[in-house]
Amino acid sequence: MTDTLAVDAATPAGRLRRLGVVGCGQMGAGVVEIAARAGLDVRVAVSSVHSGERGLRRITGSLDRAVAKTKISAAERDGALDRISFTTALDDLADRQAVVEAVPEHESAKLQVFALLDKIVTDPEAILASNTSSLPIVRLARATQNPGRVVGLHFFNPVPVLPLVEVVGSVLTDQHTVDRAEYLATEVLGKTAIRSPDRAGFLVNALLFPYLLAAVRMVEAGIATPDDVDRGMVAGCSHPMGPLRLLDLIGLDTTVSIADALYAEFKEPLYAPPPLLLRMVDGGLLGRKTGRGFYEYA
Ligand code: 3HC
Repeated sequence: MTDTLAVDAATPAGRLRRLGVVGCGQMGAGVVEIAARAGLDVRVAVSSVHSGERGLRRITGSLDRAVAKTKISAAERDGALDRISFTTALDDLADRQAVVEAVPEHESAKLQVFALLDKIVTDPEAILASNTSSLPIVRLARATQNPGRVVGLHFFNPVPVLPLVEVVGSVLTDQHTVDRAEYLATEVLGKTAIRSPDRAGFLVNALLFPYLLAAVRMVEAGIATPDDVDRGMVAGCSHPMGPLRLLDLIGLDTTVSIADALYAEFKEPLYAPPPLLLRMVDGGLLGRKTGRGFYEYA
């Protein structure tokens, strides 16, 4: 493996070379891609061979686009792909120095992953991070025997494009873990970090979701079309995309999970998922990932 990481042993991330990622959906694939591009050896644990193949297609497609746009060379793409390996056995993450969990937002699944990672990843200094956007980090930490090494690393979609990572320490996270996680996000992966509190929505989603849900309520009330709302926010406020298109990008099922978590924490009506959103999820209209949400996708 070509060692392209200029990480000094004396830094908080001390010689961090081996990253594990659990799950290779939209977010997991993005994390794998940026980590491999940063020179890390990335092992990805997936639930089935099929998930691994789908994840690899996502990553390859994204790297191919980056080559086509001359952001990276073909050799850099091939080097990044060489640094990625897939496994269906979580045990294969045993030698990792940091693991980012990015499985779907189901508490029981995430708790199980953390309980297993805690036993499998033996290095007591290893970071066990979650990309959760809706679960308290402390609950994931309690599934382990060493809650001090559990931290939130909340990436934004699309991960290769958006610079932010929220670094979230729980009341049980060691300061050392928070510092190393921030170092991983910024110095190793090249992201911009903010430290966010371990409350539902952290900082960014707690602000973003009332706005997104208000847009759904406008459409639900029949006072505006999705296109009018979106064009209004793009042309009037210079947002890169309007709220309904953004919801389709995030996924309406993920949106409901986040809204439910926000509402459960704060009991504020502005966080409650509107019935239209719930019915669309019931109907399998989840946004881009299913080809249809507020818009249709080829
Ligand atoms: N992977 C890699 N690169 C991508 C990409 C992807 N999936 N999608 C777009 N890009 C790149 C393109 O290559 C292009 O790069 P270039 O400008 O250097 O050529 C650039 O991003 C712009 O892409 P496009 O020209 O294809 O399209 P747009 O200009 O419409 O941008 C967008 C698409 C990047 C998605 C932009 O609209 C955007 O930033 N939207 C806002 C996204 C956002 O708010 N995300 C946060 C969601 S909340 C969240 O993630 C939290 C979670 O908990 C829910």
